[in-house]
Amino acid sequence: MTNKEMIDEIIKLKKEKNAVILAHNYELPEIQDIADFVGDSLGLSQQAAKVDAEVIVFCGVHFMAETASIISPNKKVLIPDLDAGCSLADSITADELRKWKSENPNAVVVSYVNTTAEVKAETDYCCTSSNAVKVIDAIPKEKEILFCPDQFLGRYVKSMTGRDIKIWNGACHVHEKIGEIDFDKKLDENPKADFLVHPECGCSTSCMLKSSVYDCNIKIYSTEGMINHVKEAESNEFVIATEVGILHRLQKLRPEAKFIPMSDESVCEYMKMITLDKVLDALKYEQHIVKVPEGLASKARLSIERMIAIN
Ligand code: 13P
Ligand code: SF4
Repeated sequence: MTNKEMIDEIIKLKKEKNAVILAHNYELPEIQDIADFVGDSLGLSQQAAKVDAEVIVFCGVHFMAETASIISPNKKVLIPDLDAGCSLADSITADELRKWKSENPNAVVVSYVNTTAEVKAETDYCCTSSNAVKVIDAIPKEKEILFCPDQFLGRYVKSMTGRDIKIWNGACHVHEKIGEIDFDKKLDENPKADFLVHPECGCSTSCMLKSSVYDCNIKIYSTEGMINHVKEAESNEFVIATEVGILHRLQKLRPEAKFIPMSDESVCEYMKMITLDKVLDALKYEQHIVKVPEGLASKARLSIERMIAIN
């Protein structure tokens, strides 16, 4: 089957099954182009809850589909490839979190949205890269905080809030490597560019310090924050420090602007597992269902609801 034939079949099945396709900002261009919504991890789950569709084809990684299932327990959530995982979500298990909690019985647990449903169920407050500081600020000052799993986002929020935060040692294998790049050299090479840096990057803490010390255009953003910045920005040049899939959406948004990836090698192989033929099979055979059992989902939902209440 050609791509065109697959796309036609996907559009036909979508109508027949009252389905929508949601795609993360890192998905392959052809997947973003057939999606009804493209966005960041939490934005997509909120879309899943909002849309009037019985079936959600979630083109992203497994924890994101789980989050959609937690927020929308009555919808059928499908992921086109069950192996689309996340190294960051895998960096803490529920058993490890339970042990950490037992060693710090008075602490409040804040977990980044890149976690499994089991870890969310052990969490007091969920957070995303765009609201982590706000979530921490809403927790009473005297409370000790356990932050997991991303060490770089953890260090970023710790320095922004000045709070007593213990940080888990997890990382995303794609963003961690961005920290090894000579950032100052990139700044010298692109003096007119806005630098947009995802907080999961190994360099996010030093970038934040740089941006507060020097008069340079470095901004720390979630993927949707980057999209919003580019929509509004006066600049025509942007250096993008995150997974390269986002460049497709950015370039569509501002065709005249120049987007320079911090590294061409920042590719998340899990996101790229979602291909047109797998999306077609997902719709045809209604596979692979991601359903978080209600007992677990209701506990995990609490941590997400607390976060939403703060925003
Ligand atoms: P966003 O929530 O910013 O889209 O990030 C998700 C992610 O997996 C980053 O690697
Ligand atoms: Fe997970 Fe990193 Fe891929 Fe994002 S880029 S989904 S954090 S492995």
